[in-house]
Amino acid sequence: MKIFIDTANLNEIRKAKELGLVDGVTTNPTLIAKEEEDAETLIRKISKEVKGPVNVEVTSLACEEIVKEAKVLASWGDEIVIKIPINQEGLKAVRILSAEGIQTNVTLLFSASQAILAAKAGATYICPFIGRLDDISFNGLELIQQIREIYDQYDEIVTRIIVASVRNPIHVIEAARMGAEIVTIPPAILDQMVKHPLTDRGTAQFLEDAKKIGLKK
Ligand code: E4P
Repeated sequence: MKIFIDTANLNEIRKAKELGLVDGVTTNPTLIAKEEEDAETLIRKISKEVKGPVNVEVTSLACEEIVKEAKVLASWGDEIVIKIPINQEGLKAVRILSAEGIQTNVTLLFSASQAILAAKAGATYICPFIGRLDDISFNGLELIQQIREIYDQYDEIVTRIIVASVRNPIHVIEAARMGAEIVTIPPAILDQMVKHPLTDRGTAQFLEDAKKIGLKK
């Protein structure tokens, strides 16, 4: 399973990179708006920092405009993936961009029917937002299960699932159990995944005992 970092903050990306935990990055306009730099400067910096896909979202709404914007965004780095919200214009654009060899990520995806259409359009990735589904009392992880089941039926489907809108470590564990290829994780959740109170308690105990036997001063 690959881990992408769900942030546009360079320091957070660098910190996760030091841990060897960045296979890629996902951004969106909201995440970029939290940073101080303009989108192009920031995405260019992130692309230099990260060896792997950097997902950047289009803001155009009509197919022709999306395609035009996507080509500009794609020039901001070596491995830019174009995030396109799912709707009819978006699907048309995905088909055109995929045919031209530009990687796409169909985003803001909330149903298995949308996942089927994204795969048919030739999307490289899809981003089902599981936390936002949980927020409105739908089970986000069940959606991942459904999509996995559908995609596994067809050899011709090569679209990869990026589990997005992750809110807790259980989302990550369950997504991994279901065989999602990628989970995009906010840095705070990554911290939670590392920590365990028994690890802290055990470490403190071992240090104390190591002092008693002269292993540690
Ligand atoms: C994915 O690419 C999105 O940036 C992200 O996961 C959205 O998560 P949110 O629902 O926490 O905003």
